[in-house]
Amino acid sequence: MERILVIGANGQIGSELVDALAAQHGADNVIAADISPRSLYAAKVYEVIDVLSADRLAAVAEQYQITQVYQLAALLSATGEQAPLKAWTLNMDGLLNILELARIRGEAGKPLKVFWPSSIAAFGPNTPAQNTPQFTIMDPTTIYGISKLAGERLCEYYFQKYGVDVRSIRYPGIISYKSPPGGGTTDYAIAIFHAALRGESYSCFLEADTTLPMIYMPDAIRATISLMDAPADKLSIRSSYNVAGLSFNPRQLAQVIEQNLPDFDIHYAPDSRQAIAASWPQSLDDEIARRDWGWQAQIDIQHLVKDMLKNVKLSQTPESALTKAA
Ligand SMILES: NC(=O)c1ccc[n+]([C@@H]2O[C@H](COP(=O)([O-])OP(=O)(O)OC[C@H]3O[C@@H](n4cnc5c(N)ncnc54)[C@H](O)[C@@H]3O)[C@@H](O)[C@H]2O)c1
Repeated sequence: MERILVIGANGQIGSELVDALAAQHGADNVIAADISPRSLYAAKVYEVIDVLSADRLAAVAEQYQITQVYQLAALLSATGEQAPLKAWTLNMDGLLNILELARIRGEAGKPLKVFWPSSIAAFGPNTPAQNTPQFTIMDPTTIYGISKLAGERLCEYYFQKYGVDVRSIRYPGIISYKSPPGGGTTDYAIAIFHAALRGESYSCFLEADTTLPMIYMPDAIRATISLMDAPADKLSIRSSYNVAGLSFNPRQLAQVIEQNLPDFDIHYAPDSRQAIAASWPQSLDDEIARRDWGWQAQIDIQHLVKDMLKNVKLSQTPESALTKAA
């Protein structure tokens, strides 16, 4: 029986991952954890954990006899640029604490499988932007991207040196409606739906033709759980897998929204996030994920737009949460 700890459970991904894991393993076996004092999404089991506290992590791992950890606590790309040292400390020390926890418990005969997400932000301006290969130039320009690239190397190091069973995906920009986005450069693709449903013109912080790799949340959750469920001997990548969902730019997304809401209108006012986006890939080659663990994206832009327009609940997401990265 698996006992699963999700750190960062109140966030955009954690809030949905907890539900998916509870459906698979039983709600009693999924321990949602976050730094905030309460569960924002009514998790059945909730613990307050600061991922920077190794002692607290060790105590909770022992209390629940944890077998899997999803380490999602991080500062994201746009927010990280506002507080680079904080982003570095949280992103690196948080991951190191989890890898050390897994090493120590593994040596004590209590193995811990780890999931930690990297990002398309680990790439940079000299990376080939189209169909970006798994192995290529990586020269990230944000503190967030630098922390993701270093994190990937740490994951592989802990696997090679200590046999820690760590698994990772370079997530594209994730689009979802349940919780507000966490301050990333791809957040426009969520905020745009809120403006559309409010009947407002959307002021986009990226230029119209800025194509980026994206993924709809159900595909992202399925990718994450498939990778964690894959047999260890099938996995050839222990840094982080390229995983493609779909690729589009703000103009293309706006056009599909307009097909559904003919009065929708967008204008462009690029800010500092444009430079970040311009340094990232436009599409990813995920051949190795397909080969190793059968990855295949399912959701296209038409489906994504219809589902977002149906499910975004304006009242649940204050406008401030959508603009916090600005
Ligand atoms: N959302 C995306 O589009 C995207 C894309 C690529 C990679 N990722 C990665 O996925 C992970 C999760 O992203 P997200 O969008 O859910 O982020 P988020 O900002 O929505 O959630 C992060 C959560 O971590 C919690 N947290 C912050 N500091 C903590 C600490 N010290 N201890 C414990 N919890 C703490 C926050 O309260 C928050 O609930 C991150 O590693 C991020 O880099 C996300």
